[in-house]
Amino acid sequence: MRPTLIFVRCVVFYQIIYVARNPKDVAVSFYHFDKMNQLHPEPGPWEGYVDKFIQGNMGFGSWGTHVKEFWALKQERNILYMFYEDMLEDPKREIRKVMRFLGKDLSDDVLEKTCLHTSFKAMKENPVTNYTAIDSSIMNQSVSPFMRKGICGDWKNHFTVAQNERFDEYYQKEMSGTDLSFRF
Ligand SMILES: *[C@@H]1O[C@H](CO)[C@@H](O)[C@H](O)[C@H]1NC(C)=O
Ligand SMILES: *[C@@H]1O[C@H](CO)[C@@H](O)[C@H](O)[C@H]1NC(C)=O
Repeated sequence: MRPTLIFVRCVVFYQIIYVARNPKDVAVSFYHFDKMNQLHPEPGPWEGYVDKFIQGNMGFGSWGTHVKEFWALKQERNILYMFYEDMLEDPKREIRKVMRFLGKDLSDDVLEKTCLHTSFKAMKENPVTNYTAIDSSIMNQSVSPFMRKGICGDWKNHFTVAQNERFDEYYQKEMSGTDLSFRF
């Protein structure tokens, strides 16, 4: 008898929602997160942190590579590419994008509630999203709260003029040759 080969075609369906944010605020946010999260390496002083970020010496590797790779993939895969700054600017518009991406048609009432419960203020007061249940030996919220500020532009309170110049140079280099850009 002839051996029979059976081909089973397996379709794996996935959807990815990718949220990018301007890298200066990412650096600030991650610095505070590194400090409070005891599972992360100690970030050291802020003075050297910006340079570590520029060198791609972060838990997630190089910021530029990360955002550019997903930006390129979004043309061909099932990826919704979103920006943190857009979410702050117009949460409803951005929630509608997620709805469309997930094929959901929600009533205005549900949209309204979603908007309310995903606001920074609500999430800071929600014990499920503020990570208050995580033991302080892992996430020490007296060092820095998990839900910290939720704004755009806090980098201005952290970057020195010299750091900002080095960073701008890094940013220009990373973003050259792509149509990806960020709002600061
Ligand atoms: C988290 O939320 C709970 C309930 O609102 C609140 O008691 C607690 O202080 C919050 N924790 C932080 C770190 O904000
Ligand atoms: C959390 O941080 C505070 C302030 O640095 C410190 O006093 C406390 O001992 C820390 N808690 C734990 C569990 O490490």
